[in-house]
Amino acid sequence: MEVIVCDNYEELSLKAFEIMKKLVTEKPDAVLGLATGSSPVGLYENMIKDHKENGTTYKDITTYNLDEYVGLDRDDEQSYYTFMYENLFSGIDVPLENTHVPYGSTEKECLEYESQLEKVSVDIQLLGIGQNGHIGFNEPGTPFDEPTHIVTLTENTREANARFFEDDINKVPTHAITMGIGTIMKAKKVLLVANGENKADAIHDMVEGEPSVDCAASALQNHPDVVVIVDKAAASKLSN
Ligand code: GLP
Repeated sequence: MEVIVCDNYEELSLKAFEIMKKLVTEKPDAVLGLATGSSPVGLYENMIKDHKENGTTYKDITTYNLDEYVGLDRDDEQSYYTFMYENLFSGIDVPLENTHVPYGSTEKECLEYESQLEKVSVDIQLLGIGQNGHIGFNEPGTPFDEPTHIVTLTENTREANARFFEDDINKVPTHAITMGIGTIMKAKKVLLVANGENKADAIHDMVEGEPSVDCAASALQNHPDVVVIVDKAAASKLSN
């Protein structure tokens, strides 16, 4: 695991962008695993700016997102599909038919998403991290080899995400569909971004803790190519 500590969120977003730009320039038909949440927004802004100013193209890129709430329509303003459209897809030239965001609440829909992913090879999987160490929506206790599945969200995650639902936890969906840790581990490279003091414990457990299902992200210690980009606050509990 390579850990890069940046002074602030702008620097972190730029660093993550450099890695993404290198990949899409060297491999114009790359497969990108994408994430939602506030952490990757700065990276997405850099990608859009660079596309508009320098013409970096995504016309042959394919994308697969990590997760989606159960029970929200695609066009709901809080769906992860809407998030991706507003924060990235509408600002670059990726054909919408090349973008994939999981959707559904059944075992069959999970299997369908997993089998689509089995036909491709994800070149880079972008991740944020939850305060409890979740990646995608793989909450503590998730086995490390699980494929795409339906999860019951923890109280902690619903509280953390209530900020997007008028600060009302009752409006936050109770379930989600997510790539499993087993799915995520198949990506050739993993790029995890995190900022802020509220992520410091999760970053510590992921990087320096014993790999354990108590911290889903600690599974990444077993992946051969992981780059973690954090700001000073998120790195504040690391001993090295
Ligand atoms: C959600 C998403 C995760 C994301 C996490 C952190 O629960 N399912 O993929 O990493 O939130 O979000 P944020 O980046 O806003 O802190």
